[in-house]
Order: sequence, then C-alpha cells, then structure tokens
Amino acid sequence: MDTVLSGIRSTGHLHLGNYFGALRNFVKIQDTYNCFFFIADLHSLTTHPHPTDLHNGVHIILSEYLAAGLDPYKCALFVQSDIPEVCELFVLLNMLAYKGEMERTASFKDKVRQNPDNVNTGLLTYPVLMAADILIHRAKYVPVGKDQEQHLEIARLLARRFNNMYGVDVFPEPQAFNFGANLVKVPGLDGSGKMGKSEGNGIFLYEDDKSITKKVMRAVTDSGPTEPNSPKPEVIENLFTLMNLVSESDTLAFFDEKWNDCSIRYGDLKKQLATDICKTVAPIRERIDAISNDADYLRKVAALGRDKARESASATLKLAREAVGFKAF
Ligand code: ADP
Ligand code: TRP
Repeated sequence: MDTVLSGIRSTGHLHLGNYFGALRNFVKIQDTYNCFFFIADLHSLTTHPHPTDLHNGVHIILSEYLAAGLDPYKCALFVQSDIPEVCELFVLLNMLAYKGEMERTASFKDKVRQNPDNVNTGLLTYPVLMAADILIHRAKYVPVGKDQEQHLEIARLLARRFNNMYGVDVFPEPQAFNFGANLVKVPGLDGSGKMGKSEGNGIFLYEDDKSITKKVMRAVTDSGPTEPNSPKPEVIENLFTLMNLVSESDTLAFFDEKWNDCSIRYGDLKKQLATDICKTVAPIRERIDAISNDADYLRKVAALGRDKARESASATLKLAREAVGFKAF
C-alpha cells in the first residue's frame, strides 16, 4: 500500500473550505492508502505562539479532525513534536540544503516581507523540516495546495541529494497527490473568492446553527437576473457552489430553474442553504464537543499515532544514520 502523508498547521478552527477542500478527501483515502496525518506544531514555533495557545491549537485540530472523520485506527494521526526522529533527520538534511536555495523560496521571501522583525533561521529552514516530515516516513504522495508545491520540490531535491551523496536509495522522491475530480475550491460568501481563515470569511465546523444562519443570510448577492438563462455572476455562482456541496441535487436543480426563469428569491435560496449547511455541520459539531472534552480519548489517540509514526520513523532514521557513517563502537 502506498504511503500518503500530510501535515496540518496547528492554527485555528476548521472551516468549510478545509473540510470540503482537504479533510473530506483525507477521510476517503484512509482505506486505500497507508496514511500519515500530523499536526505540525514544530513549524508553528516560527511565529512564537504563547505555549498555552500552541497547546490549545493542537487540541483543537486533533479534536476537529477526529470529529470530521479521521480514524486513528486506520491512519497514523500524530503530533509532530512527539517524533524526535524528525528532528534528527532535519539536522542531516540541513547539511544538504544551501542557504541561497532557502533564501530563494517564495514562502520565505513572503515571510520576510510580512515580518521583517522576525526573520529567524527556523523560517529559512522551514522547507527542510517539512522535507524531514515527509522523508522520515518515505512517503510517496503528499497532498499539497499551490502554496506548498515549492516545498515539495525541495523535499524531492533533498531526497535526491542524500541518495546521490551516499550512494544509497533510502528516500523515494515524494510526489504531489492529486484528488482529481474531488478537488473543490470552496468560495467565501462575501464575494471575495475563496473561504479562508486569513480572509476572515470562514464558516466553521464548531459553529452553532444560529451563527451559521446569520453568516449565510448576510451573503453578498446582486439585484437578480433580468434575462432568462443568463450566466451567473460570481457572487451568485458562489452560493450555488456551496449548495452543490451541502444540498440534495433536486434542491440545487430547483433553484437553478428559478434562476433561469428569473423568479429566484435570494432570501429563499439563502434560507435553504443555511439549513443544509447546518445539517452538514451539526453532527460534526456534536462530535467536536464530545471529543474535545474527552481527555482520556485524546491521550489515547495521540499515543497510538505517536507509536505508529515512531515505528516507521525509526526504521528510516536507522538507514539514514548508516548511510552517513554513524556507527556504534
Ligand atoms: P486556512 O488558513 O484558510 O485555514 P490553509 O491555507 O491552512 O487554510 O489550508 C489548509 C487546507 O485546507 C489546505 O489543504 C487547503 O487546500 C484547504 N483549503 C483551505 N481553504 C480552502 C477553500 N476555500 N477551498 C478548498 N480548499 C481549501
Ligand atoms: N507547511 C505545511 C502548510 O503550511 C504544513 C506541513 C508541515 C506539511 N510539514 C508537512 C504538509 C509535510 C505536507 C507535508 O500547510
């Protein structure tokens, strides 16, 4: 079974974009691939979060991923900082990563621009740590968004360099995993393109019906169609895209027809959309509540994931240590 691995940054709550754009697909592939999913709390340290906030972030992500359907018995679900082998491989890979290459990474340049007072070397070597995350499990596939493609390229480069330098075949070159037709972009309801945390337009999985409904009813619309069968402007298309994800197909067809014959009432469309989003979110929210308050369960899950991940990581690290010439006396 091929290995798929993905790291999740430990900041904030999951929104519908994360759910339909990533997580729902992770849930689907748990049976067909050997999956490693982890919370990248070491990477989070680049921005110096307060220790309490760091821990709360990990707690939230772990609870919400479990609530949304990741099964700790099917995949390895773990916390990055629980796997010391990653840090050792990180050191080995750092010797093969050149300063100029790291400085040229787009994400590093962005961070320098955004935060000129915090250009720490953790930021510079962020892609090397990410390569260590991937290579330590000899992962074949990594689902990544556009912003992470360059990091994956660096992981391939370091795998290749390590293998060539030591004349071994320890690390396979990881490839981007493509969810194909399942890949969706979840729009925001404020007319600003995608739903996202930094966009400030998220509808969250932990939110209650009242708060979700309020957000949906406030969605940006226009003055309505004047010609039958006209193309939908972006803000309206966005409502239909969301409806396509959460509603029954005949509901979607009903409102499509209303759009096409110009009798659509946006208030009705939004009410229906709000109802269907709430229906999707409610069972997940209930599980989030239950799981996040179940310290015993979370402890068990984290330990199970840690043990699975350390078993795989230590096997790879052994090969890497032998390759570079570390030998016991
Ligand atoms: P955010 O910061 O908005 O929570 P991230 O950029 O951290 O989102 O992305 C985490 C994961 O969720 C990525 O795999 C990304 O592709 C997915 N994702 C985030 N927002 C959306 C969206 N609006 N539509 C589809 N996928 C999304
Ligand atoms: N850098 C990734 C992000 O910002 C998170 C991440 C860390 C990751 N290590 C990884 C993703 C390894 C894939 C594989 O989203």
